[in-house]
Amino acid sequence: MTPRPFSLVAELTYRCPLQCPYCSNPLNWSSDNYRTELATEDWLRIIQQARQLGVLQLGFTGGEPLLRKDLEILVEAAANLRLYTTLVTAGTLLTKERASTLHSLGLDHIQISLQDSRPPESDYIAGTPSFHQKIAAARLVKELGFPLTLNVVLHRQNLDRIEEIIELAETLQADRIELANTQYYGWALKNRAALLPTREQLEHAEQVVKAAQQRRKIPMGILYVIPDYYDKYPKPCMGGWGQRTLIIAPNGDGLPCQAAMSIPHLTFANAREHSLEYIWYDSPAMNAYRGAAWMPELCQNCDRKEIDWGGCRCQAYLLTQDSTATDPVCHLSPQHSQILAIREQVSSNQQSDFVYRGMERDAK
Ligand code: SF4
Ligand code: FES
Repeated sequence: MTPRPFSLVAELTYRCPLQCPYCSNPLNWSSDNYRTELATEDWLRIIQQARQLGVLQLGFTGGEPLLRKDLEILVEAAANLRLYTTLVTAGTLLTKERASTLHSLGLDHIQISLQDSRPPESDYIAGTPSFHQKIAAARLVKELGFPLTLNVVLHRQNLDRIEEIIELAETLQADRIELANTQYYGWALKNRAALLPTREQLEHAEQVVKAAQQRRKIPMGILYVIPDYYDKYPKPCMGGWGQRTLIIAPNGDGLPCQAAMSIPHLTFANAREHSLEYIWYDSPAMNAYRGAAWMPELCQNCDRKEIDWGGCRCQAYLLTQDSTATDPVCHLSPQHSQILAIREQVSSNQQSDFVYRGMERDAK
């Protein structure tokens, strides 16, 4: 039986003042397909339908959701329906006035991305000066009494400062930190040579994170996500395809994950024409890899098949051009040698130049 969706990720826009080289938005984020964003009425209908479907959490994200002038209207509608709401922002556009209004309208929680602990390094990764605005935004969030999550995407260019990053989060009195090693799709895959860390960096980071977890200065804890290229088994991506989370892209496409559009043969039902109920339960793309029936024999006969669900479909497609293949990250996969070869190249690779999101406007 298909479970109801637990959370809705509302990608309000793919526009963003930052240009992070690991952005999860599609490579062609600025194409005509995404330029025509859903209208306020569309989002109000989607939020209403999400509640009826049983959704409990709603994340407003992007791109930069603060670029939408109707954010306040959407937050108020969601709060009136008693959804737990999170604003996922880069922080650079969070003024005191807007933050106070969002607070009074019922926004529950704010998550701010940090790129690094030091201004020049952070600005280099973001592709634009932004560090000081982010720190000011984090202070503002605490001052207004919101719970604050800091999200730091980790990679070879910032992992050596993991102590400083955690200390900065402690100084800012973050309630929670997400330290998420980069996952390699879209922009991150394009920049993998500059982003994939060494095993030594990861071993050091794990010790630092463990020590910080024991210090317990972050009340809601530190979530540490290791890069699956260094794991024995793949991750249960999104908790399984179409199992918990429904994503609505800025153009209205209903997706099971933020990279699903990288699987070219999938067609996504759009919330302009279809109800969320249809998209979640009946649309072909949402059902394409739901459950275990689609799995290759290797996964079908494996006792982890309902733990990791065969791994990430997008990663399987991007590495093998077969979206029904076992995720090559799995050490049992016939294509696992690809991952071993990529890992071997890392220690000799000194590349630190990025292809920034936005430099190739309509990259395919
Ligand atoms: Fe997971 Fe498939 Fe690997 Fe088993 S064989 S661990 S189900 S990816
Ligand atoms: Fe799409 Fe993992 S990112 S299934």
